Amino acid sequence: MIARLSFLVFVAVVGLGPRVEACVADSVLNLRIHTDGNLTWSVNPNEPCVIEHFQIDAEGDWEDDYRSTTRNHWMDLSFLKTCEQWRFTVTPVSGGELGHASRIIDWIPLPPTADLTLDYFNATSLRKNWVLLRWDLRNRTHGDCTLQYRVAITDRQTSRIRDFYEMGRSAYLDFLSPCVPYHLSIRAVNTAIGGLEGPEMTANVEIPAYPEDPPELRNIQIGTTTISMSWRLENYLLNRCPIENLYVDGGSDFNLTIPILDPAGRPPVHVNIDGLRRNTVYQFKVYVENSGGLSTEVPMAVQTLP
Ligand SMILES: *[C@@H]1O[C@H](CO)[C@@H](O)[C@H](O)[C@H]1NC(C)=O
Ligand SMILES: *[C@@H]1O[C@H](CO)[C@@H](O)[C@H](O)[C@H]1NC(C)=O
Ligand SMILES: *[C@@H]1O[C@H](CO)[C@@H](O)[C@H](O)[C@H]1NC(C)=O
Ligand SMILES: *[C@@H]1O[C@H](CO)[C@@H](O)[C@H](O)[C@H]1NC(C)=O
Repeated sequence: MIARLSFLVFVAVVGLGPRVEACVADSVLNLRIHTDGNLTWSVNPNEPCVIEHFQIDAEGDWEDDYRSTTRNHWMDLSFLKTCEQWRFTVTPVSGGELGHASRIIDWIPLPPTADLTLDYFNATSLRKNWVLLRWDLRNRTHGDCTLQYRVAITDRQTSRIRDFYEMGRSAYLDFLSPCVPYHLSIRAVNTAIGGLEGPEMTANVEIPAYPEDPPELRNIQIGTTTISMSWRLENYLLNRCPIENLYVDGGSDFNLTIPILDPAGRPPVHVNIDGLRRNTVYQFKVYVENSGGLSTEVPMAVQTLP
């Protein structure tokens, strides 16, 4: 009887006593990795669990893993390899129980001490308007994940400067003109460290003379004995090679050479042909010549009015 009673009491104590259920902590907030390799986070102010510590996992993309624990809300991970993609996981631990994990994928940026010196900077003219730029860092030990390269291009005829940022180790430029000398410069910029700039490297390039695009007919008026036309030339900015003449070659019927004054802006060229026969078909071709040679010909066939 006594034994039975104490069994009942034991059951009552277990049944009514405080619940010893584990507390599963919520995931941490504001998880981020700073430029100095400091991983930081915060805890929800309404977190109901008592967090004993945090478990930190860092998994690299080359199967190099790291695990540690801390009671702080940060961990110094500056020893991890820079410019490798890392998956950082922070898991709060409460009552020996893992809580909800928080994860970010990021890299440890290049440190301020990274060498931003360039090894070479080459500019190669490929064809009309196209220039290939190539460069590389002298020392790639830290990688280049947070680097951008600032390219500045000075037109040495007008002194106009144009600059832009590039990633990677090469760039195609498609907006330069033949016959213009350009001065180019480049610097590596560590964007993680407030735009810290490396030393400059320079190069020069001049695209060789290249023929104009064929002229385009803008306007034509046909009379009984006359043809009057206006021809648009290629945009001056795309081809600044000195332009010489526009030709209207009608074989034995007529053959005009119209010298072109070459101001910036390159206005349309007006052509008047007269002394023609009525109601007659004339075939001719129109093309331009610049210091790069002759453009493609534009074939024309025009019938005068009766
Ligand atoms: C990491 O950041 C935290 C919060 O800003 C700071 O208290 C801690 O000292 C930093 N640790 C290192 C190694 O810089
Ligand atoms: C860049 O140009 C230099 C000098 O012309 C040349 O020696 C070098 O091989 C070039 N580098 C590349 C990657 O083309
Ligand atoms: C490249 O940079 C690393 C780290 O700064 C340095 O230890 C190494 O000696 C450098 N290598 C060369 C060839 O300069
Ligand atoms: C027309 O003139 C141009 C330039 O002087 C010349 O090259 C071309 O042969 C001439 N055409 C004819 C049919 O004579």
